[in-house]
Amino acid sequence: MPKSDTATIPEGVPTIRVVAMPTDTNPAGDVFGGWIISQMDLAAGTTAAFRANGRAATVAINGLVFLEPVAVGDEVSIYTEITREGRTSMTIHVQTWRRARHTHLTSKVTEGDFTFVALDANRRPRALPEIKPGDAPVNPQI
Ligand SMILES: CC(C)(COP(=O)(O)OP(=O)(O)OC[C@H]1O[C@@H](n2cnc3c(N)ncnc32)[C@H](O)[C@@H]1OP(=O)(O)O)[C@@H](O)C(=O)NCCC(=O)NCCS
Repeated sequence: MPKSDTATIPEGVPTIRVVAMPTDTNPAGDVFGGWIISQMDLAAGTTAAFRANGRAATVAINGLVFLEPVAVGDEVSIYTEITREGRTSMTIHVQTWRRARHTHLTSKVTEGDFTFVALDANRRPRALPEIKPGDAPVNPQI
């Protein structure tokens, strides 16, 4: 389920910002949903690899909703937030927002929950490392 349909500001840490280009469109001319999902997976993967302190793989994507289309030239911003941690897995809520190139208006276009599993050298699940006092924050806001 989407975390919020009514939020007017992004939730989570800014993780990826990119401009949608003509090569990212579907046959109808809007930005291809698969391209948006790949950006979200990249963003969630960045947060997962940081938390796992190593390799992590996407195991599930749940509750993904598309609220409005993205146009060529839009500034696309992806925000991530770890919302659940298990022994080896974590769920990361991901929101995608757009800003039309020549305006100040932003709106949420997509959100969903990406579950990642920390992996060892043999690609098997590995326990998430303990967070010790003094460690860098899991979602560093740089
Ligand atoms: C990720 C992978 C190693 C997990 O293997 P597995 O045999 O299912 O491992 P386990 O049953 O021990 O589960 C490991 C963790 O994943 C979670 N998990 C497994 N399947 C899940 C699913 N469909 N949804 C949510 N969590 C899931 C388990 O709950 C467990 O979490 P926990 O340790 O925090 O309790 C395996 O499924 C895999 O390699 N998948 C392909 C990953 C991939 O290629 N992704 C795309 C490119 S990155």
